Parts: sequence; structure tokens; C-alpha cells
Amino acid sequence: MDSSVYTPGAGHLPPVLAGRDDLLHAMTVRLNDVANVGRTRSEDVVFTGVRGVGKTAMLTAYSAAAAERGFEVISYQAVTGQAGLVESVLARAALRIDQEVKAWARARRALDRISGVSLGVAGISAGVNVHEQTATARRVHPEALAEALATLAAEIRRDAPTGGVLITVDEMQVAAKSDLPLLAATLHRLNVEHPQAAVAFAGTGLPHVPTVLREAGVTHPDRLFLIEELAPVLPPTEARYAVIEPARRAGVSWSTEAADRIVVLTNGYPAHLQLFADEAWRAAPGPGSISVDDVDAGARRAGDRLVRQSLGPRLNELPPRQLEYLTAIALHGGSVTTRVVAETLGRQQRELSWIRDELLRAGDVYAPSRGRVVMSVPAFAPFLLSHYNDARDASDTPLLPLAAMRSNAAPEAPEPLPAPNTDGA
Ligand SMILES: Nc1ncnc2c1ncn2[C@@H]1O[C@H](COP(=O)(O)OP(=O)(O)OP(=O)(O)O)[C@@H](O)[C@H]1O
Ligand SMILES: [Mg+2]
Repeated sequence: MDSSVYTPGAGHLPPVLAGRDDLLHAMTVRLNDVANVGRTRSEDVVFTGVRGVGKTAMLTAYSAAAAERGFEVISYQAVTGQAGLVESVLARAALRIDQEVKAWARARRALDRISGVSLGVAGISAGVNVHEQTATARRVHPEALAEALATLAAEIRRDAPTGGVLITVDEMQVAAKSDLPLLAATLHRLNVEHPQAAVAFAGTGLPHVPTVLREAGVTHPDRLFLIEELAPVLPPTEARYAVIEPARRAGVSWSTEAADRIVVLTNGYPAHLQLFADEAWRAAPGPGSISVDDVDAGARRAGDRLVRQSLGPRLNELPPRQLEYLTAIALHGGSVTTRVVAETLGRQQRELSWIRDELLRAGDVYAPSRGRVVMSVPAFAPFLLSHYNDARDASDTPLLPLAAMRSNAAPEAPEPLPAPNTDGA
């Protein structure tokens, strides 16, 4: 069938945000509170999680809900090594003033004061290259930025009483080191000096973003931000809903087996749900229904796309020791204890903990409970097993052959059976 309803590819808002009802409701309440009462009742939220779990999608939903209420949204995607916070505010100001949005024009003086005399809204409108001016950002005082945002929010509310200002930052873990303390200090100044200001913040980042914030000098990031960690996989019912509901709205039904098969193939990982559902849709002859055969036909093409677009490139950039560690996890189906990984590699657990930490940081694995590691992209496991030996041959680091890992690998001890009931009850 043509015109698939799914949204494979990073950053696309899916037709339904499955499994996020609680978060979406909390978001609605938060926007309502910040508009009515100001920052005294607001929480600045950061969505964290591994790659492809739907962080950007949540931020997009947040921005859309805010815009619907009359908020002005200032958003930027952090890019390694580039300051962007102040530049985004000023660039947005230049655009909105140019578009003759009255609230921005009325707040212009406060906006101009953000960066003193060297670069104001006028500088931006005159076409100044923001990246050449990043030094300006370092001279910005959080007080001036907080004052400008509070003034802007007040002006916006004169025209849109349920509105305010929402600032969003995607991929906070790569934000310029100068931006993070500036952001934190500005939010803090807003709390202290402008508690009534209708200014909210939402960001995203990989799970280690609290550590990045601390390393950038932000004390107690967990007190300043509400960290909402998105689980790497959706529960089966939610995963089925993510697949079935967009089709239903378009008058197409999934057979029960077909929807079940998608959940098994993707383990409920949002990025793969979209990809596999998209290919099943395309493979279905139509009209009106998708069968398990369509899922299987689509799965082959989805697999090819995955290899080309993500698994292959990720394998090529993995440092050798991380490749070896991940392969040991893959040998156990992608979910295993760190003790068994160490046995499989014939090493001590403590020698390996730094490798596990690096993989956690990069988002390749997550730790659902103490001592367990799970691969965040389930399809990576079989792919690694079939490509490990070639990658090992090409590596300068001497890595353990797959056969040696297999012979080291002891099956995990089975759960003890419940003791038989012997008391006659
Ligand atoms: N709740 C959801 N239900 C169904 N599909 C979803 C959901 N959230 C995200 N998706 C889909 O999953 C894919 C990944 O989403 P998104 O790009 O937002 O993830 P991300 O966490 O920002 O990833 P990255 O860390 O790579 O930036 C997209 O195709 C998106 O449409
Ligand atoms: Mg993203």
C-alpha cells in the first residue's frame, strides 16, 4: 500500500505517542500552572533516554501543546562545540520582531540588554553570523537573560492570557559547556527574581545528561530539573497500540498475529516500531488490512534499512573493547548480568566496568536493574554476532574470538523453583 502512516526516522512526531499518556497529562497541567501562577508552580523537565526512544518526539509534543495555548517557543538543538542559547533567543527575537509580533516588539529593550552593546536584536536582524559571536554569550549575565524572558512572557500574556515562554533544548548532552551553567543560572534567577513569570523549560538528553550538567558546573541538576527517564521499550500493549491506532484512523486493520509479530521483532523499541510497521504497510497488497505475511515480507526490507542506516555505521564506529563487550551481551540474547559478561570474556568484572560505563554513556546499553545490562537496540544483537569476527580481524586490538566467548559462556543459573508446599495446607 502507498502512503504509509508511520514515521520512521529520527525526530518525527509519530501519529500517536503510545505509552506517554501520563507524561502528556503532566505536561498539560504544568503548562496550565506556569501560565496561571508562574514559576512558583512550574517544573523544568528534561526527558532522558537511549537513542530512538522518543525524546525529541516528546519535546515536539510539548512545544505544540505550548504553542496552542499562546506560548512563544524558543527552541534549539544543541550542536557539539557551539554556543546556542543566547543566539537562539536573539535569533527568535529578530524573526518575531521582523514578523511584527507585537509582544516581542514591546519587549525589545529588555531583549537588547541581554548581550549588552555588542550584539542585540538589531545585530541579529542585520545579519550578524551568530557563530562568530559566541564569545558574546560568555559575557551574558543570567540576570539580564532572566529579566528579558520575564518581560517577554509578561508582554505575551497581555495578548494571550494563557501563554508565556517555553524554552526547549534538544540533545543537552552536547550543549556547549558555557551554555549549561548559563541556562541553569537563568532558570534559577527566574525562580528567585521573577517567581510570577510564565517561563517554562523542557530539554532532552541521553541518560547521562545529569552527569554532563554536574561536570559543566551545575550543582544539583536533579533539584533544578525534573528528570523524566523514558524507558527504552514500550510495554507490549502500548507497542501494539502505536502500530494499530494510526492504521485504524486511516481505515486499515492489522491482524492480531501481525501486530504481535511486530512487537516480537522490535521488542517495543519506538524507533523500530515505526520502521517495521512502515515496511509492513508498504509490503501489504491492500487495501484495508495487514497480515503476518506482510510483516514478514516488510521485516526483510526493514532489516536492510536498519543495517544501512544505523547498525552498520554504529558497528564501524564502536571502539574495539566496547565491540567485544557488546558481542558478549549479544551472545546471551541481548540481556545478561555483568557477571556472565565477565565469564564470557574470561575477565574480572572490575576490569570491565569502565567499558560498561562507556556503553551506558553512549546509549548502546542500559541497566534495568543492578548488575544487569541490556542492549538498547535489540536488532543489534544478531547483527553483531554475524559481523563480529570480520570486525575483529580488521581491528588492531587483540579481541577474543567468538568461538572462545561461546565456550566460556555458561548458561545463566535458572531461577530456583518455588519450594514445594509440604505443610499439607
Ligand atoms: N511514544 C511513541 N510511540 C510510537 N512511536 C514513537 C514514540 N516516540 C517516538 N516514536 C518514534 O520513534 C522514533 C524515534 O523518536 P525520536 O527521534 O523522538 O527519538 P529520540 O529519543 O529523540 O532519539 P535520538 O536520541 O536518536 O535523538 C521516531 O520514528 C518516532 O516517530
Ligand atoms: Mg532526538
